[in-house]
This record gives sequence, C-alpha cells and structure tokens, in this order.
Amino acid sequence: CSKSADNDRFDCHPEPNANPQKCVARGCCWKSASANFDPEASYNVPWCFFPSDYAGYSTDEIVVTSTGYAATLTATGQWQLPYGTRIGLLRFELFMPTVDSIRFKFYDPANKRYEVPISTPEIQKKAFKTNYHIDFTKNPFSVKITRKSTGAVLFDSSPSPLIFTDQFLLISTLLSSSNLYGLGEQKAPLQKGGAWARYSLWARDQSPTFNTNIYGSHPFFLNLEPDGKAHGVFLLNSNAMDVDISPKPAVTFRTIGGILDFFVFLGPSADAVISQYTDVIGKPFMPPYWSLGFHLCRYGYSDTAYVKKIIERNRAIGIPYDVQWTDIDYMDAKFDWTYDPKRYGDLPSVVEDLHEHGQKYIMIIDPGIANTQPGKYAAYDEGVKDGVFIQDSKGNLLIGKVWPGTVTFPDFYHPNATKWWTKQAQDWHTKVSYDGIWIDMNEPSNFVFGSTVGCPGNHLDNPPYVPQISGNGSLADNTVCPSALHYSTSHYNLHNLYGLSETMATASAVTSVIKKRSIIISRSTFPSQGHFGGHWTGDVFSTWEDLHYSIPAMLEFGMYGIPLVGADICGFNHDTTEELCTRWMQLGAFYPFMRNHNTLGAPDQDPAAFSKRAQSIMKAILEVRYTLLPFLYTLMVNSHMTGVPAARPLFFSFPTDVNTFDIDKQFMWGSSLIISPVLTQGAESVEAYLPKGIWYDLYTSQMIGSTGKMIGLPAPLEKIPVHIRGGSILPLQAPAVTTTLSRKNPFGLIAAYDVNGSASGELFWDDGDSLDSYSADKFCHVAFSAAQGTLTSVIMKNGYAPESPLVITEIRVLGVAMKPTHAEVNGQSAKVTYLDHLLELEIADFSADLLSPLRVTWK
Ligand code: NOJ
Repeated sequence: CSKSADNDRFDCHPEPNANPQKCVARGCCWKSASANFDPEASYNVPWCFFPSDYAGYSTDEIVVTSTGYAATLTATGQWQLPYGTRIGLLRFELFMPTVDSIRFKFYDPANKRYEVPISTPEIQKKAFKTNYHIDFTKNPFSVKITRKSTGAVLFDSSPSPLIFTDQFLLISTLLSSSNLYGLGEQKAPLQKGGAWARYSLWARDQSPTFNTNIYGSHPFFLNLEPDGKAHGVFLLNSNAMDVDISPKPAVTFRTIGGILDFFVFLGPSADAVISQYTDVIGKPFMPPYWSLGFHLCRYGYSDTAYVKKIIERNRAIGIPYDVQWTDIDYMDAKFDWTYDPKRYGDLPSVVEDLHEHGQKYIMIIDPGIANTQPGKYAAYDEGVKDGVFIQDSKGNLLIGKVWPGTVTFPDFYHPNATKWWTKQAQDWHTKVSYDGIWIDMNEPSNFVFGSTVGCPGNHLDNPPYVPQISGNGSLADNTVCPSALHYSTSHYNLHNLYGLSETMATASAVTSVIKKRSIIISRSTFPSQGHFGGHWTGDVFSTWEDLHYSIPAMLEFGMYGIPLVGADICGFNHDTTEELCTRWMQLGAFYPFMRNHNTLGAPDQDPAAFSKRAQSIMKAILEVRYTLLPFLYTLMVNSHMTGVPAARPLFFSFPTDVNTFDIDKQFMWGSSLIISPVLTQGAESVEAYLPKGIWYDLYTSQMIGSTGKMIGLPAPLEKIPVHIRGGSILPLQAPAVTTTLSRKNPFGLIAAYDVNGSASGELFWDDGDSLDSYSADKFCHVAFSAAQGTLTSVIMKNGYAPESPLVITEIRVLGVAMKPTHAEVNGQSAKVTYLDHLLELEIADFSADLLSPLRVTWK
C-alpha cells in the first residue's frame, strides 16, 4: 500500500464518503493523495485503492480455438467489496476476426446474462495474419494487446483487479498516451485524458452541464499512440456505468450489469479506427440532400399564423432555407400524432405550401403516449391492444408523466412495436405529409420519479452500486423505474438504448411511409444510432461558452458514427443576442446538421428577426454553405460508405502534429477545409492554428504558408475564417434559396495547389433522395486532379442519369505562379482571368458536362 504513487491507484471506494475504516474493511489501501485536489474536477486521486494483489480471477490454461483463444477463469483471493457475491467461474473468449480488430468477452457460462441487442458482425474465423500481439497472464488473469509494428499498448487489463458480480463489473486498461477522445455524451473538451476524471453514462434529460451524464451513452474511446497512430476501444455494454480516467494513463470501466464485451480497433489512422468501429455498429445512414440545407425551428410557435409569419419573412429576405420544423406546440393537448384543430387547423396546407416552395417539413414526436383518453385515442388504444407499453415490475402498465399529462411508454423493442408505430406514422402522413421526424424526450424523460406511484425499490431500482450520475444518486430520477419491464428484459438493462430503439422503429416506419430518404433526429443515442438517424445536442444555452462546446460535441458524435449532428444554433435556453446569434449562424453553417432552434418564451432568433446587417451576414454564410453543399454531400457519402465523419478534429488529418491533439475551437470538413470560428464576444480576430502547409482564404483566395503555428486571422462580424488546404479540389454549386433549386444550378470547382502544384478532389452525386442510390449503385462518382497547367476528371462511376445534364461553368485555380494567357476546356477556348496579387486563375465562359471526362489546360 505504502508504495502506491497517486497515478498508480485504482479506486476501491468509488462512492462518496470513503474513510479509512470502510476502506480497510474492503481489504483495500488507504492513503491521502500527494497531489492537491482540483476542486473543479469530477473526480480526484482515490485515497482508497486496490492493493496490487487484490482478489481477481485466475486460470490454469488458455486454449487456442478456431477463432482465437478461450479460458475458464476462477475467482481467487478474499472478496470483501459490498457489491454482492462474485461469479465464481467466468468464461473468457477472444476473437481475432480481422487483421486490425479483436473482440473479447467475459461472461458467466452457467447463467445467460443480458447482452446488448444491437446486431454486430458474426465471427466465424480467425484472421490469417494480424497486426497485433496478444499476451496473457494466468494468475491473476489479464489480457494484453499490443501493436506488432511498434509495441504500443492497445489494451492491458493488468493494472487493476477484474471484478464480476451480478451488478458490479470492473475492468481497467492502460492507455498508450493521455490523448484520449470519446466516452460521451458529456459537455467536455474534445481531449479527455491527462487528469483524473469520471464520466458516467446513464441517459438523462439534462441540458449539457460539465461533469454530468446527459442524453446519450457511448462507451467508446479513441486513443492516440506516441507516434500518432490511433486505436479504438469499444465496450458493448448498455448498463449504467462510470468510466474513470487516470493520468497513469489508464481507463476503468465500472458497469452495473450485462457482460464485459470489448472490441479493439487498430486503425492505424483515426479514420481507419472509425471505419472499423462502424464496421461493427453499422455505417451511417445516407441522409437526403435537402437535409444538409438550413433548418428553422422553435418551441413556442403558438399557432400556424406564427409559423407562416416566420416562413414568409425569411423567404422575403431570400434566406437559403430548406426545412421548417414545429415543436410540441402543434399538438392537440400535446398528444402525439394529432394537431390542435384551432391553433394549427391549417397545418396540412402550411406543409403543402412548404412543398410547393421546394421546402420540407419535420415535426416533433415524443415517446410518451397519453393514457387519459382511452377509447378515443388510437395511438394509445392500439398500443394497449398490441401490448407494446412498458410494464411495472408487477405487469401493470407503467404510468409516467410528460407534456400531455400521464403517459405510457412504448417498448420499442417489443415485437409488435414497429408495426404499431408504423401505423401511427402512416395514418398521420395521410393528414400531414411530413418529410422527417424529430424524436425528443427519449432518455426516456419522465416528470415523476420512476412512475406516478414511484418504484418498488428492488435490487434493480436500488443496486448495490450506483454510478456517479445526476439525480441524487438514483437511477429512476427523471425517468422510468429501472425495475420496469420491457418485453425482453428490464428497463435497468435497456434504458440507455431507449433513444436508439425509438430511432430504429421511427426510421423503419418513415421509410415505409415515405419510400424516400428521410431523417430521424434523436436526442438520446447509443452506438448504432448513426446507422438509422442523426442527433442534435439538446438544450444548450445561448452563451459563448456553449457556442464553443458545440464543437467538441459535434466532433465526438462524428467519432461515434453519427456524422449528421449539430447544436441548436443561437442557443436554446435563455435569450440570445444579435452578436452571439450571428456568430452561431456562422459556426452552424459548418455543422453537418444545421438547425436554428429556440426555447419557449425566448425572443425570436430566426434570421429575419434581426437587423439588416445581421440578416445579410446570416444570408451570406448560408449562401457559402449552399455553395459548398456538393462538397459536404460528397463527405456524407464518404461517411455512409466508410464511417469517417464529415466534420472532424484536426488531428484526423495531422496525426503527427502534437499541436492539433487538443484543438476543439477549430475543426475540419474532410481533410480540405479548416474552420476557425469566433467564439468570444466582441472579438474581431481569431488566434487560429494552421498546420504546416499552404492554406487559402475561402473568400479572398489569399494564400498563407504556415510552418504549423498560431496565426491571427481577421474576423470582423461579417466573417468566419475558413481556409482551403492546399492540395484540395472542392466541387461547388451556385447557391439558391432551397436545395431543390440549387441542385439545378451549374457546378464549379476550386482547385487549391499544394507546394508541389498539385491538387485532387471528388464529387458524389445522385438524385438526392432515393433509398437505393448506394445499395443499387445509382450514383455518380467523379475524381478530379490538377497539376501544373491541367485539370482533369475521371468518371469513376456513372450510375445516375440526371433529367437534365449537369454542367460545369467555372473553375478557379489557386496558387498558380505564372500568368496564363490561354485556356481550353475539352479543346475549346475559354475565358482566362488572372489575379496577380492572389496567384489566382479563373477559367470561365465555357460549359462542359460534369459527368463526362473533363480536360482543362492553360498556359
Ligand atoms: C426538449 C427538447 O430538448 C427541446 O429541443 C424542445 O424544444 C422541448 N423539449 C419541447 O419539445
């Protein structure tokens, strides 16, 4: 005990109020910390910690199997923790499915325990060759995985004991470095390693606050190795858990149910880690083109007159704007699948008008189904008949309380649930022809504790250990009783999957109703969410701080395989200001999912609500976004095919530049654009990091050669700094007020030379909303490349035939050192303009077919 340095400790008394007596009674070591406490931290050096020879598991033999290794583990040592009896015999199985991935599980071979019901690839054989080594220790049992090429540690369970009781499972692993990402959903910096911290996962209706569990649960982390390689670790477990981070560096998972089922992904690039992770949890769904346009919403549109006023005033000033949403205001007494006949009586015609203008409509649906009008409310009556609602531990309907008053909660994993939900979505579509669904309150949120009559307080409601969650340490706080029954298991097990299960049922329903691509945007999420829908980051505040934290939130969801993500632009809670909202619209123009949303009672924050100056700044940045949409869409197609997010941290593209590892005030689109927003009130410039290389200002083409340093960038209110990375070619399209119109406009290209005078890029294009564009190869893929004096394209795939030809009419080449006097496009002369001071070449006055090979030359 006496030898344990602070950083070597693993917590033996994770609940508050540890003392020497309690600690020693657990057979653990008690010693104060040598370092001072950080009063702001969620967690600090534990004073009660495991001795190095604490009770664990051991094995006599590790056998080689057709898929990897297996062992039977026996509990050893004296067990003194107050978390129930240990499971005496455990089975360990390790699978080596691919050269770059491993899966291993610890489970009880004698009693089938709950396992997470998401589908993962079946493993039938062992990879012939692997990029990893696997080592074991037998007593105590531990598993260690290292990277063959460098010896970097990818997983090593040796530093703390392995614990496995019915409701307390603990395992730790060493990290390769303190550069650690993931483990959300949390309001936190992007980079989470380095200091003691505890992140607890238990879905909760909680506006983003530091050190607090919020809407989603993602037990996945990405860790950088000393040489910049990346690996990922995923614990497939949906129970409430703590994840402790220590500066050793190490991570401890402490979960209160299920089994320990780990995946390790070897990357070695961050892109490859996310690609391997999404091989397991599912590739992101392909969103429709229109969903990348601008969305406008608020809570508090009291009637359709208000909604129409908003639509019209934003149209009137020419705001590019694709989707209008309505919040619970539209509902009749807040009942799902109804609209208020008085205040919202003409909702169907408002939606028709949106459609006539090439716009779309999305409304909110909450999971709670009112139980107060039996016999008169189909969603409830049919749900009761189909038996789809969650029951209390005695088998009666569990009654909670949400917006409409008392409600029942659907069990979206019930075998009848999707059919019942689809029927509601279908019947509703005959009344209101919506284009997508916003699913909220699906942690699930409950305004009473557990149910209207509380919870029975059994071992699931009051487990021997509760992770460090909000809500006075109770799992039932603000939600359904953990002891409640779903069809297959308890709410205790399925709670964190509620949002995912609702997304799956809703996506399936909407697909069968609309028969086109749609979007389901969910507040609560779990791994696999991205395969079915997107996410918005909940009730953020209208503050400069939350403007900043929206960036790490967006970036972490990209890493969770949910690339379609964004925050409530201008902030949800509290009143925004014109300056904050302007800056937020500028940043939001670079969220993959761009929606302005506001709370009840706060002043309007749609673009037309502001001064002429703010309106024109907002309109201008929307036009920039719409111009860039072919590029963003191409990134989203890439996400769909590979899992790699569209919006990503700088270190994804600059993995050996240590300066990028902590950056969460800037981010990139793909590897080509770096966005450096203003995040401070009154600021007119940004101190931004530009990694080594050539960068071009998106608006002025001005070139910056960076050696990898902080650079002061001018940023008057009119401007959010955005730079194109030398070496990129971006496909563009002239903007319009909707994507319906912008998709008909001519295309253009910006080719930005790197130091060698070359550049490359690509475009994916399709009809924008067919369900089978990618499964049936009905898309086009064009690859562009530029060298000195030439730009050419190759048609990699030509599976989509547009109604009218796609034309390209303008090309800008940045970084052209010598003034050309003549240019040809496919053998025909074109107009050349050269801007000496910017080294910018513009080629115009031509029209070429985008889907035929292009050959542009200049001299
Ligand atoms: C909570 C959601 O997070 C918010 O976006 C919404 O406006 C309200 N519920 C009302 O539906």
